[in-house]
Amino acid sequence: KVYAVIMAGGAGTRFWPASRSLRPKQLLPLAGGSDEPLLAATVRRLAPLVTPDRVVVVTGEHLAEATAKAVPEVPRAQILCEPSPRNTAPCIAWAADVIAKLDPEALVMVLPSDHFITDEPGFRNVLERALASAARGNVSTVGIVPTRPETGYGYIEVGEALGDAEAGGAKKVSRFVEKPNRERAEEFLKGGRHLWNAGMFFFRARDMQKLVAEHLPELAAGIAKISEAASTPDATSVLKGVFPTLPSISIDHGVMEKASGLAVVPGDFGWNDVGSWQSAWELGEKDDKGNALDAGTVAVDAANNLVRVLGKTKKVVALVGVSDLVVVDTDDAVLVMPRERAQDVRLVIEALKAQK
Ligand code: GDD
Ligand code: MG
Repeated sequence: KVYAVIMAGGAGTRFWPASRSLRPKQLLPLAGGSDEPLLAATVRRLAPLVTPDRVVVVTGEHLAEATAKAVPEVPRAQILCEPSPRNTAPCIAWAADVIAKLDPEALVMVLPSDHFITDEPGFRNVLERALASAARGNVSTVGIVPTRPETGYGYIEVGEALGDAEAGGAKKVSRFVEKPNRERAEEFLKGGRHLWNAGMFFFRARDMQKLVAEHLPELAAGIAKISEAASTPDATSVLKGVFPTLPSISIDHGVMEKASGLAVVPGDFGWNDVGSWQSAWELGEKDDKGNALDAGTVAVDAANNLVRVLGKTKKVVALVGVSDLVVVDTDDAVLVMPRERAQDVRLVIEALKAQK
């Protein structure tokens, strides 16, 4: 049996001010030209391979209602709500435990909820190959050929091929490096031996449980407590008591960088993480000057800008003589920055927190 776990509890801080704590990236239609929230698209494009009754969505308690509304086809009991966000390792470990109890041999694919994919049949084909690799006992990922020295992704150094066709074209992972600095990212790009980690993970439920026990024993112990209480009257109070104490760490840093025996399936399906305003500009429809503008915007002698007008009052935004900017207008906040600083939006959130 194949289950899909969709991680949908991220804050999407790099899309401030469009994303807010109650309206994070995965619930926004960021792909441009469509009203479909990224999470809804994730469930929809999976359906030919994994139907919604086998989909588990993990999100934060505060997003429970909005998430259920975005994916009404997923049974409500399969929307797992974290009492507080602890990053992706606790999210994956919890979901793996819930599924392992149903079927320890179950094959699980873990997918992010915030990606844009253009070739959907090609995407499903890669998922099937990654599942075939996972079925052989290798925790597997999908790797994308890098096109720029992106520092917002993890990189996978690719090793030798893992034998026969049954392995789904999988290769050994020599090393996993989460979010390198600019210099290293440039080396990786030049060297030609690295792929981008697409943030998708494939495994037999018990294989992931083993890796978590080995590399994050504290996390495994916490999940065991939640698991033991799960079908008792104490379930909710134990979850609320234990989950916020779990180590807050991503699966990439906590497990993938340390584990051996990982596999990667190379894929090419028009993937974009829509990780920042920069990628929103790349994906957006542009005029002949390279401006991606929302309706009503005026651009005079301006090139390669992104303008999003998201407030209730559709303000007129005018650009004169500027290039390579991001301008985002919402009801209560305005962002202006060079496009190449897109990763630094996080700093705004930190600065705002510090002001409180
Ligand atoms: N349930 C839950 N709880 N989900 C979470 C949490 C959490 O605490 N934190 C993040 N998520 C979800 C996000 O909503 C997203 O769908 C997914 O997990 C990945 O988290 P991101 O925060 O978007 O990670 P990233 O983009 O910085 O990095 C990961 O993805 C890249 C590719 O997009 C890494 O796996 C990188 O190695 C990878 O290149
Ligand atoms: Mg992401």
